[in-house]
Amino acid sequence: MRFFSHLSIIPLLSLHGVLAFPSYGTLAGLSRSELEAILPTLKPGVPESPPGPLNDTSAKLVNDKKHPWKPAGKKDIRGPCPGLNTLASHGWLPRDGVATPAQIVNAVQEGFNMGNDLAVFVTYAAHLVDGNLITNLLSIGGKTDRTGPNPPPPAIVGGLNTHAVFEGDASTTRADFFFGDNHSFNETLFDELTAFSNKFGGGFYNLSVAAEFRFQRIQDSIATNPQFDFISPRYFTAYAESIFPLTFFIDGRDKSLHLDMNVARGFFQNSRFPDGFFRSNTSITLDVIGGGIDYIFSKHPVPPGSNNGTVNSYTPNPNSADFTQFCKLYTDFVNITIRGLYPNAKGALLTALNKNLEYFYSPLVGSGCPQVPPFV
Ligand code: HEM
Ligand SMILES: *[C@@H]1O[C@H](CO)[C@@H](O)[C@H](O)[C@H]1NC(C)=O
Ligand SMILES: *[C@@H]1O[C@H](CO)[C@@H](O)[C@H](O)[C@H]1NC(C)=O
Ligand SMILES: *[C@@H]1O[C@H](CO)[C@@H](O)[C@H](O)[C@H]1NC(C)=O
Ligand SMILES: *[C@@H]1O[C@H](CO)[C@@H](O)[C@H](O)[C@H]1NC(C)=O
Ligand SMILES: *[C@@H]1O[C@H](CO)[C@@H](O)[C@H](O)[C@H]1NC(C)=O
Ligand SMILES: *[C@@H]1O[C@H](CO)[C@@H](O)[C@H](O)[C@H]1NC(C)=O
Ligand SMILES: *[C@@H]1O[C@H](CO)[C@@H](O)[C@H](O)[C@H]1NC(C)=O
Repeated sequence: MRFFSHLSIIPLLSLHGVLAFPSYGTLAGLSRSELEAILPTLKPGVPESPPGPLNDTSAKLVNDKKHPWKPAGKKDIRGPCPGLNTLASHGWLPRDGVATPAQIVNAVQEGFNMGNDLAVFVTYAAHLVDGNLITNLLSIGGKTDRTGPNPPPPAIVGGLNTHAVFEGDASTTRADFFFGDNHSFNETLFDELTAFSNKFGGGFYNLSVAAEFRFQRIQDSIATNPQFDFISPRYFTAYAESIFPLTFFIDGRDKSLHLDMNVARGFFQNSRFPDGFFRSNTSITLDVIGGGIDYIFSKHPVPPGSNNGTVNSYTPNPNSADFTQFCKLYTDFVNITIRGLYPNAKGALLTALNKNLEYFYSPLVGSGCPQVPPFV
């Protein structure tokens, strides 16, 4: 089956006689002829291994003199992730929103104290599906053209806004792709979140609010989005992202375990640390997030599944990985999602693909999850 059945970037490329493919444009999902046109125009990036863990994992001032908030400029890219948006708007990441995976791992560790295993796993997952494996660049937003039928055709440009590979439905403060592909902060959703914080958290976002709002967003999508899709990997990231505000947006000196909603708005809407913000006092690893997910899930267990083209038709999908199958999350992501996006990889692209697959697996060494063999 051809991925690129009705969209083609070839006309776009030859339009001005110059090749306009951006250095951060993803190569995922491109046909052989598209790759042949684009690959020779790209300047290969410098290979780099994923950074190791922080040496000093204590809380510290991260909204410091060297990292002042500045509004994003016209050409600066921002996307669906308030964490990465904030790092870019404070200069912990390049302010234009285009970065190498190693820059992202360093920034999430330094700026938020994300644990090395989580940082490497999430960053390389994103890079493999939304980044450019030859230039070694990933955009934290980026235009998407996944407007086609369900499942949609691949992105033309890629970046984290690309629907249905990493970005997905039932987000906390972003509406579903079905409602117009808007990755921006949505005031209506934030107001709903505030109402839930009042109802379940005494005016704050805490673990109870996280559990209730996660369930609410799922029910809302089931009831309103005929194309609601909630299988792995989105199933995992949706629950994880409900924990992130608690582990990352609360000042590292604050022991309350609840998040002030004005501070939450600063991150979600304005990509901004509060004044004097200290990062978490401890590294937030895969295990920490797993514990939070277990709590949220236990309050309202929903299996992975999808609507079938009409609203209120949520059907569990037994083929999708669930929370009892972390290894399957990894294996299916490699064997199904990534393999499906690179049916034509050879030469330098195949080499880069396998290198990044190796990095993606590296946090799982010793986990008991068998490594998927390199692609051939
Ligand atoms: C390590 C690299 C990271 C990558 C590649 C990444 C990527 C993403 C993506 C693609 C989304 C959109 C998913 C969706 O809602 O459809 C997202 C959402 C989110 N991310 Fe990140 N992220 C990273 C790190 C972080 C960090 C460090 C934080 C917190 C400091 C964070 C907080 C969040 C939150 C709270 C959401 C949910 C936003 C919402 O639903 O309104 N992320 N991230
Ligand atoms: C931690 O320290 C080692 C040894 O000094 C250094 O090589 C490494 O780069 C440091 N890690 C980070 C993330 O800074
Ligand atoms: C915000 O989200 C709501 C609920 O999903 C949706 O009805 C509305 O159209 C969204 N607004 C914008 C500006 O995208
Ligand atoms: C996306 O949402 C923002 C903020 O709510 C709004 O200003 C903008 O008009 C929306 N764009 C589209 C294309 O719906
Ligand atoms: C969240 O806050 C509410 C209101 O203070 C409280 O009743 C609830 O126990 C808190 N949830 C957790 C998990 O601590
Ligand atoms: C960090 O704060 C948590 C939550 O208050 C506390 O349990 C933990 O002991 C602190 N850790 C460090 C390393 O200070
Ligand atoms: C979708 O699910 C609904 C409700 O469960 C059912 O009535 C309908 O026949 C299903 N449609 C398809 C195309 O499977
Ligand atoms: C993944 O795909 C490879 C190559 O087709 C195969 O050898 C391997 O068994 C698959 N792994 C799983 C767990 O499905």
